[in-house]
Amino acid sequence: MFQAKPIPAPSEDKRWRIVNATMRRHGYQPSGLIETLHTMQETFGFLDVEGLRYVARSLRVPLSQVYGAATFYNLFKLKPAGEHTCIVCLGTACYIKGAPAILSSLQEALQIKPDQTTPDKKVSLIVARCVGACGLAPVVVLDEETHGKLSPEQVVQKVMAWRAPVTEER
Ligand code: FES
Repeated sequence: MFQAKPIPAPSEDKRWRIVNATMRRHGYQPSGLIETLHTMQETFGFLDVEGLRYVARSLRVPLSQVYGAATFYNLFKLKPAGEHTCIVCLGTACYIKGAPAILSSLQEALQIKPDQTTPDKKVSLIVARCVGACGLAPVVVLDEETHGKLSPEQVVQKVMAWRAPVTEER
């Protein structure tokens, strides 16, 4: 019988381990597709092309079918339009450690809600359910970088720097 083997993840990002665990549970079989996409969305906040390719190869499902599933179901979100993405983890650990305050500060500063992109297309605001770094709670992922234990003010400062990259204050 064909023995499915894991293939290398798209990056070192630890969140792929969580996605991999779901695929492994399904024996890397195509029947695990929808649950894998769910896990990917919960850990990354959205589905991007690179990730969809990886899932397609891992589960040996045609890419067209993976795209089809990702776009057919309303519950899946494809990568947002912003040049940068700010993901706020609202999983239990982060929630308890103050993620709601971070999210509301960001909403106020950016004047957008989760799943929206600023009118200048610089920043998309996303929420995720657990990005696999609970020990650092509350966690935000700014583009690919995971940051933990930041105050709402610090997060807002970092995100606003994307919109107006001005000289650093000393
Ligand atoms: S709950 Fe936020 S990283 Fe796990």
